[in-house]
Amino acid sequence: METDWNPEKLELRRMTLADVDAVMQVERRSFSAPWSRQAFVTELVENQFARYLVFDYDGRIIGYAGVWLILDEGHITNIAIDPDFRGKNLGEILMRSLMSLCMSQGARKMTLEVRVSNLVAQTLYKKLGFETVGVRKGYYTDNQEDAYIMWADLPLEENKAVDA
Ligand SMILES: CC(C)(COP(=O)(O)OP(=O)(O)OC[C@H]1O[C@@H](n2cnc3c(N)ncnc32)[C@H](O)[C@@H]1OP(=O)(O)O)[C@@H](O)C(=O)NCCC(=O)NCCS
Repeated sequence: METDWNPEKLELRRMTLADVDAVMQVERRSFSAPWSRQAFVTELVENQFARYLVFDYDGRIIGYAGVWLILDEGHITNIAIDPDFRGKNLGEILMRSLMSLCMSQGARKMTLEVRVSNLVAQTLYKKLGFETVGVRKGYYTDNQEDAYIMWADLPLEENKAVDA
């Protein structure tokens, strides 16, 4: 557990291949069915639509999030904050940064899937303007859990807070 939290040591930047091993540690601590290491590598190396951000805290990766930019839509693929660093507003900052990044690239709306049991994430998304518009039955293959499909409209003004 982090005892000496200092926000000045926090940097938000693009994910690189050098971050993947550290990202995997947070991924494994955050999800019952974590992505593979190769999944992140493929996203970074081969997916021209993908953009991934990390929170680097004094050299330690403590959170990350990704989005696919497709036409005027941003599809959020993944977001996690290390359990030791939750409840510090970092997940919200990451989400807002992804939304800014998408807006700066001309996106008008964003979408994501979330487990019906994941009330924490749903609360975060609703706070940011996402609404549930449908259900994908059995979307999660580890336990056949349903996913809520959520969408949000983005403000139209440009926001260049995070480089795309
Ligand atoms: C979802 C997650 C990214 C939130 O990150 P976080 O940094 O802890 O969240 P924040 O501190 O930024 O909280 C922002 C908002 O999220 C919601 N939230 C956060 N923790 C919550 C909790 N324990 N209970 C209810 N709502 C909560 C609240 O709306 C909160 O806003 P508020 O502080 O004004 O109430 C984090 O819990 C996580 O990594 N979970 C595991 C991975 C995961 O489920 N990812 C989403 C997959 S779809």
